[in-house]
Amino acid sequence: MSPDAALNRWIRHDFAAINTALEELYFAQGDRAQVEGIGTDLKAELVRRGEELLAPLLAEGRTHDGFDSALELLGDVGMYLGALRRHELTNPDRETTSPFATASALALHVGVSIGMAPRFATAHLATHNRAVGGLRRSFTTLHDEFLFIDENTRGIFGLQSAAYALTRLVPLGASSPVADVLFAEAEGALKGVAACNARLFETLDIDRFFYCVRPYYKPYRVGRQVYRGANAGDFAGINEIDLMLGLCRASDPYYAQLLHEKLPYMLPAEQLRLRESMSRRSILDQLLDHVETDRDAPWFVANVRAFLGVCDAFGAIAAQHHDQLVSRFVAGPAQTMAPGHMQGITASGPPLEALLRSLEILRDLRMAAPRGDIASRHDDMARLRAAIA
Ligand code: HEM
Repeated sequence: MSPDAALNRWIRHDFAAINTALEELYFAQGDRAQVEGIGTDLKAELVRRGEELLAPLLAEGRTHDGFDSALELLGDVGMYLGALRRHELTNPDRETTSPFATASALALHVGVSIGMAPRFATAHLATHNRAVGGLRRSFTTLHDEFLFIDENTRGIFGLQSAAYALTRLVPLGASSPVADVLFAEAEGALKGVAACNARLFETLDIDRFFYCVRPYYKPYRVGRQVYRGANAGDFAGINEIDLMLGLCRASDPYYAQLLHEKLPYMLPAEQLRLRESMSRRSILDQLLDHVETDRDAPWFVANVRAFLGVCDAFGAIAAQHHDQLVSRFVAGPAQTMAPGHMQGITASGPPLEALLRSLEILRDLRMAAPRGDIASRHDDMARLRAAIA
C-alpha cells in the first residue's frame, strides 16, 4: 500500500477510533471541557502512529499524482493536526511554532502547491469527502458528528444549486421571460436548505455537538502561522447568492474583507467562481432600474414577485442559521461551560461575542433588515415591494 493510502486508511479507521475513545473519556467527566491530562496513552498512540505514517510521505517529497489526491492528502494531514489541537497536544496560544514539524511541512507543501490554506477545510469533510464502502472521513464515529457533516453537506449542495440557478441569469438579464424557471429553481433549492437546518435543529444533541464535534474546528498552527478553523461557509455559493441577489455588495468594505479572508479556505475552482461573482451587476440593481418606468409591465411584476420569493427564502435560512443553530448549539452551551474554557471556542478565532456580532451582521444583510449602521438593502427592497403592491 502506498504511504498516502496507508495514511488515508488510518484516518478512516484507527484515528477515528482513538478520537472517539478520547471523546467518551472527556464526556464522562463532570467538566466535559477538561481535556488536559485525560487519556494520555491514547493521545500518545495518536501522535506516534500519525508521525510514523507521515514521515515516509515527507521523505518522498512527491506529494501527489494530481489535484484530487493532493486535496485528499491535505485533508488527512489537516485532520490529524486538527485532532492534535482538539486534544490540546498543540495550542497556538502557548506556542510560536507548531510542535508537529513533519505534519506542518507536509501540509505546507501540499497546500501551497494546490493553492489552498495548509489545513483541513470544509471541502474535506463536506463536498469532497470521498466515501469508501459507504464510509466518509470523520474525526470520530459519533452519531452526532455524522449527522452534522452530512446535513452540512446537504445544506451546501442546496446553496450551490441556488447559486447555480441565479448565475445562469447573468446572460439573460433580470427582465428575461424565462427567468421564472431559474427563480423557481433557486427558491426550491433554498427551501431544501431550510429543511436541512430544521433537521439539525431538531435532532442534533446539543452537548455532543458542543463538547465532542465542534472542538475539532478550532484554529491551529501550521509551521509558524495560525490558520482559522473550517466552517460551512467556505464555498463560493453562499456569497454568489448574496451578490447575485444584491443583498450584499462587493463594494461594501465589510463584506469585501470577509470575501478576501475566506478565499484561501476554498477550493481553487470555488475561489475563481467567487472572484467572478464580484464583478456582476446584481438582480436587485437591475430590477431597481425599472421601478419607475416598468412597474405595470407584466414581466416586471412577475420577475419582481419571483425575485422576492427567492430573497424571502434566503432571509429565512439566514435567520434560522443564526437564531436557531448558532444560538442553540454554540451561544447557549457556551454560557453554561465551566469558566476557563472560553479561549478558542470559535472556529475563526475571535471571542464568541465578536463572532456572534459578525454573524448577526450577515443575517441582517441577508434579511435586508432595517439597520442604518450596516450596508443593508432594506430601503431598496422596500421600494421594490411597494412597486408591485
Ligand atoms: C458559519 C454555526 C450549520 C452555513 C458558522 C459559524 C458558526 C456556525 C458558529 C461561524 C464560524 C466561526 O467563524 O467560528 C453553525 C451551527 C450549525 C451550522 C451550530 C449546526 C449545528 C450550518 C449549515 C449551513 C451553514 C447546515 C448551510 C450549509 C454557514 C455559513 C457560514 C457559517 C455559510 C459562514 C458565515 C456566513 O456566510 O454566514 N456556522 N452552523 N451552517 N455557517 Fe454554520
